[in-house]
Amino acid sequence: MKKDKVLLPKNKDVYLSMLGKKITKCKRCALNITRNNVVVGEGDPDARLMFIGEAPGADEDSQGKPFVGKSGQLLMRIIEAMGLKRQDVYIANILKCRPPKNRDPLPHEVENCIPYLLMQIDVIDPEIIVILGRTAGITFFGKDFAITKQRGNFLEFRGKRVLPTFHPAYLLMNPKAKKLTWDDMKKVLKELGLSVPKK
Ligand code: URA
Ligand code: URA
Repeated sequence: MKKDKVLLPKNKDVYLSMLGKKITKCKRCALNITRNNVVVGEGDPDARLMFIGEAPGADEDSQGKPFVGKSGQLLMRIIEAMGLKRQDVYIANILKCRPPKNRDPLPHEVENCIPYLLMQIDVIDPEIIVILGRTAGITFFGKDFAITKQRGNFLEFRGKRVLPTFHPAYLLMNPKAKKLTWDDMKKVLKELGLSVPKK
């Protein structure tokens, strides 16, 4: 029996909502004490494209949704420039809870939380995953990952095509790098067989 295609595809929304309920109750690490909301992730369960960030910030923690603050607004402009809408893709983070004062995720926090993201990836089964920034890069590809060297190249992670690019928070501080991220997104569109919208 082929294991990979038996159960999942038709029931993706059921799997995701059950998983979401589980994630929302998570107390695997101490971030459950300081969080206001768990940020599970959101988007199209059948998305061909998934974006993965680092962890919720203050706005995300208060609204329970990924990428809704300043970085999120930039990410939405990028997604719209690609001719897509927020609800066409799936957006999630490595950590589902906000680290206090937005500090970097601790190794044990990532270790406890990453199974949730891997389950989301397995259920959604996107064609391409765009990972945003250094933390996501290191989580996927190990501590030698260098965002400035490896962004814009398709890498493989558990049989999936993954393209790292700069984190929108970095782009807000370094606007000149936006052009490079746009080059990366054009590669993603090409790979998905979608045309680059005229500006
Ligand atoms: N930064 C992230 O990495 N994720 C969010 O959801 C918001 C900001
Ligand atoms: N450093 C980061 O953490 N992320 C980027 O995207 C670029 C530099």
